[in-house]
Amino acid sequence: MAADEKHSCYEGVYASSFEFYLEKSGEHKAMLQHVQKILPGEYQRIGAGKSSLDVLGVGSGGGEMDAHMLSLLQSSFPAIPITADIVEGSSPLIDKFKALVAKTSSLQKIQFTWHIMHSEEYEKQVKAKGDVKKFDFIHMIQMIYYVDNLAETIKFYHSLLKSNGRLMIIIEAGNSGWDILWKTYNKDLCTCEVKEYRASTEVLSCLKSLGLKYEEHSIPNSFDITECFDPNSVTGERLVSFMTGRDHFHEFFTPELRASMLELLRTKCSTLKDGKVFFDSTLSCIMVHA
Ligand SMILES: C[S@@+](CC[C@H](N)C(=O)[O-])C[C@H]1O[C@@H](n2cnc3c(N)ncnc32)[C@H](O)[C@@H]1O
Repeated sequence: MAADEKHSCYEGVYASSFEFYLEKSGEHKAMLQHVQKILPGEYQRIGAGKSSLDVLGVGSGGGEMDAHMLSLLQSSFPAIPITADIVEGSSPLIDKFKALVAKTSSLQKIQFTWHIMHSEEYEKQVKAKGDVKKFDFIHMIQMIYYVDNLAETIKFYHSLLKSNGRLMIIIEAGNSGWDILWKTYNKDLCTCEVKEYRASTEVLSCLKSLGLKYEEHSIPNSFDITECFDPNSVTGERLVSFMTGRDHFHEFFTPELRASMLELLRTKCSTLKDGKVFFDSTLSCIMVHA
């Protein structure tokens, strides 16, 4: 790996904590319920009069959301050839995605191109090449926290949209539990891969300053984090480690910092119900027009 090449944080312990987080949080289920409602209409607008459809997934991870969205697109346009380009920096997650494609019958007609690299490298390569491939649907799901420059990244992917295309960004909502936790402890948390925390508020103000047209939809979600408050719980430790972007919460932060983060998690980021603590993980889905 070249000295200036970015590492993916989604390797090793953190990649498996992410899978564990997905299981515990119900995040994919909430997103799926939402996209199944809005995408059929969007796909009809995007695909009207087109003889082929090209999709770009950026930071797709293990591809669970991609697989559902591509299957839905294929069933909306059964006779139209579809291509899917995937830009993803984590090799273990790309391998998982490829295995998912291999066993999903509704994806067999789709032609995949894998770009195992970060968004910044992909952008550099596309700009260096003369003929730029354009896309009908581009999505960035829960990944925009990691890009170096928010405005430049949005401008770049927006420039890759074909006529009537849509760029879909899913991100944690402004004022959600994530937003409150990461902005309150910005100085302590934004020291690794995430250098500058962003929620929907930052993305929306960026879209406004770029003069782009968009719609925003809320995706409500919450999940039980009660075990995070039990110092002997392995589940709690894994969950709070992922939520604070660390491999090991208890090893990384001082006892004072852990106590104050846990207090904030309980009192400001969550609601209490039947003795359990439910973390507010509301998401925002932003559809940007070509
Ligand atoms: C929170 S995960 C979301 C994965 C997937 N979209 C999902 O919702 O399940 C973030 C993903 O972004 C990828 N990633 C991080 N930085 C990236 C970058 N600069 N360019 C492209 N992908 C990146 C990670 O490897 C990881 O797969």
